[in-house]
Amino acid sequence: MPGPHGAAAAAALGALARSPLDGYVRLAARYGDTIRLPYSPGNSFYLLSRPEHAEHVLAANQDNYVKAVTYRPLRALVGDGLLTSEGERWRRHRRLVQPVFSRRHVTTFGPFMTDAAQRLAARWDRLADGTVINVAGQMSALALDIVGLALFGSDLSSDADQVSRAIDAGQRVAVMATFLPLRWGPRSTRALRAFARRLGRTPEGVEGTVGRIVSGRRAAARGGAADDPGRAGAGDLLDVLLTAGGPDGSPLTDADIGDEVATFMLAGHETTANSLSWTLALLSAHPWAREQLEAELDSALGDRDPEADDADKLPWTRAVVSEAMRLYPPAWTIERNALAADEVAGVRIPAGSLVAIPPYLIHRHPDFWADPAGFDPRRFLADGEAPGTGRPWHRYAYIPFGGGRRACIGASFAELETVLVLATIARRYRLELTVRGIPAPAANITLRPGRGLPMRLLRRS
Ligand code: HEM
Repeated sequence: MPGPHGAAAAAALGALARSPLDGYVRLAARYGDTIRLPYSPGNSFYLLSRPEHAEHVLAANQDNYVKAVTYRPLRALVGDGLLTSEGERWRRHRRLVQPVFSRRHVTTFGPFMTDAAQRLAARWDRLADGTVINVAGQMSALALDIVGLALFGSDLSSDADQVSRAIDAGQRVAVMATFLPLRWGPRSTRALRAFARRLGRTPEGVEGTVGRIVSGRRAAARGGAADDPGRAGAGDLLDVLLTAGGPDGSPLTDADIGDEVATFMLAGHETTANSLSWTLALLSAHPWAREQLEAELDSALGDRDPEADDADKLPWTRAVVSEAMRLYPPAWTIERNALAADEVAGVRIPAGSLVAIPPYLIHRHPDFWADPAGFDPRRFLADGEAPGTGRPWHRYAYIPFGGGRRACIGASFAELETVLVLATIARRYRLELTVRGIPAPAANITLRPGRGLPMRLLRRS
């Protein structure tokens, strides 16, 4: 099976630890879409970049796969929440919170999304035309604002800096720790958290914000708001977590609740922020697509801002976001450990192997995408057929939200949020890259534009 051996394998592992995305791209360019890399004594890392691999590992034979060892540093940082837990704990929590994220319920979050985007636009209105802003930072604060209000009924605007520093540091530490031969127990978890806090210069880390969110709601409940059916937060995620129990099982512990709040705070804002940043960068680099976007917004909305109901009337806006997530999937790699030996589309996988399914490589696979590196949202308007290939879409050729039962629970939330935010911003502003070309991605756990994405803010005339 293709892949490096001996010294070349050690060098490839070193490259992966330093710069995982470049490492993946180089391995794929050299060895193709089915690669084996010796990883630890008796164990191998498999990089499998075809849709049929994704379908098998994430869905068809998902019972044979668990979240990989590579998620352990992440677990050390956000605890044992939905993203990192397994088994009965995961099943119970997923069942519990699923209704909050149904397509229908998510539309009730629309006003939080548009209000937050309008507040951002009002702040931008006070800046001089042509001001250069850090778009990645602004999108991250906006997405955190939305998650805070929609899911926890909390205003997190004053926590944005602290949370973003904690998450930056956490991501770097998590990637560094991924390939270290650590025994993961309470001590290594504590050490990793402490190191991430020092690196991010945040004495409280994410826990400080999580603690305030939970105690704030408890205090409001003690103050009598709990008897009021119209109380703030009724039916939001925090409410569901705090009132879990009854015939469905015992209440969640404070630690359980804290881990879910930290998980949703991270998973619910970092990825959407990246998707919006990449979208704005790509629109600046492809003015024809931006003009089409502006024409759609002008004709569908006139001089008003979008509401949740408008999302279906904005097919080009959606296609632009989808195409941005194809080229720059925020969750760019998905990893699993095989429990028993398996065969994945003809590839033999021994028990215990680490298997990586990389949306970044699958979304750019030339067998499944015409002009894979080109930006063309029209692909997402075509019905049934992958344009330019004359073949039907493979369901797993486009997997920004993963697949199978561990697929993203927040997909509908993210789809609505990105469309509403993009529509609110692009109706008023054009953002121009300050340098030619799309910035190189910085890949840790998520795929971000490097260097904060400076862009020039111009009012639409
Ligand atoms: C563009 C935005 C987003 C992208 C690209 C994205 C991507 C993903 C992917 C690929 C997974 C599966 C990971 C795996 O299989 O190992 C996932 C899981 C998850 N996502 Fe998202 N996500 C996004 C937005 C959100 C939002 C808005 C929320 C919450 C409000 C969220 C919460 C979660 C959670 C809790 C999980 C774990 C689900 C489980 O294992 O049951 N995500 N996401």
